[in-house]
Amino acid sequence: DFRPIILAGGSGTRFWPRSRRARAKQVLALDGERTMIQRTVDRLAPLAKREEIWVITNDLLSPAICGQLDVVPDEQVVCEPAARNTAPAAGLAAFLVERINPDAVLGIFPADHVITDEAAFLSVLEHGIKIAAAAENIVVLGVTPTRPETGYGYIETGSALDDGSLRVRRFTEKPNRERAEAFVAAGNYHWNSGIFVWSARTLANAIREHLSETAPILEEIAAAYGTPEFRKVFEKLYPRCENISVDYAVLEPRSAKGEHHSSLYCLPANFGWNDLGSWAALYEHQLEQANMADKYENVTESAGSMPLDAHGNYVYSPRKFVALVGVEDLVVVETDDAILITTRHHSQDVGKIVKQLATNG
Ligand code: GDD
Ligand code: MG
Repeated sequence: DFRPIILAGGSGTRFWPRSRRARAKQVLALDGERTMIQRTVDRLAPLAKREEIWVITNDLLSPAICGQLDVVPDEQVVCEPAARNTAPAAGLAAFLVERINPDAVLGIFPADHVITDEAAFLSVLEHGIKIAAAAENIVVLGVTPTRPETGYGYIETGSALDDGSLRVRRFTEKPNRERAEAFVAAGNYHWNSGIFVWSARTLANAIREHLSETAPILEEIAAAYGTPEFRKVFEKLYPRCENISVDYAVLEPRSAKGEHHSSLYCLPANFGWNDLGSWAALYEHQLEQANMADKYENVTESAGSMPLDAHGNYVYSPRKFVALVGVEDLVVVETDDAILITTRHHSQDVGKIVKQLATNG
């Protein structure tokens, strides 16, 4: 009994102006025809009946999500009345499924990542499901790090078991630059992909242990699910949950506790994972795909383009012809009501514009 839980409540501001509050990255088709959340569900199809999939999101995004995922029943698209980060979101799913079958294995999936090798993804996931079904184990899918990224969690791994899984020594969420550099240099660290596999019971118990005030709140909400009072109970209680990610709430403290060591496993996840954290990351991802870039490494999504002494630019302007003359490393994104002009090196800062625009009204 495997149930994918898709976390899709993030606001995703770094793809402005294509992303807006009701059009976050997960509901955009940034890379191809299908949107990020559609592809997340598509790639799980061989392992889960679509009726077994849950999506945890919010009211702003749910119209787009329900429209894009007509195969997931609307009542399994749960809309949080307030954003409380991933621990309460994943925790609520655990308490909901625990009532149906505590032994059901949950896969927690971010809604907005790219995975290029879907066959490899499925075989790692099946392995993870086996480990999670066998005992109160927590399985984290880990990616070989390629740079000292400070926005990720790092998994320090120990010895390999016969089945290829690695023991987790220590989990560190979002280290500073120096520590991230040391982790990458050490060689036995993996990035946390944000994909976790554990039984409903294991996750519910982890919330009970590590978020003792939030657990009874989630339990009460789960008990009301399916009753006429559900929405009222959810709106009243959910905002009282602690605002914390599953990484800080469960993974870090759990890995620091010696007696629990045996329950944490890392599976190397070399299936072309990319969390597309910025326009630059999208550019780099598309550069690796066949036929996406011209021979000067410009990626243009436009109604035709002509580069002249131009190199390494990313342009999105689907209805216009684009001429690039003597420019390099630019990011230009045009939508109906806005144009973004920046460089690839500054594209991490686009979120600041969104913040500024929000405060200015
Ligand atoms: N339902 C719901 N509610 N979903 C949420 C919420 C929330 O309040 N906040 C975030 N999410 C969703 C996002 O949409 C995304 O799909 C996923 O949960 C992860 O949240 P992020 O906000 O993107 O987390 P992060 O990037 O800071 O860090 C996580 O992901 C990294 C890999 O991309 C951590 O797990 C890191 O350890 C990991 O390396
Ligand atoms: Mg993220």
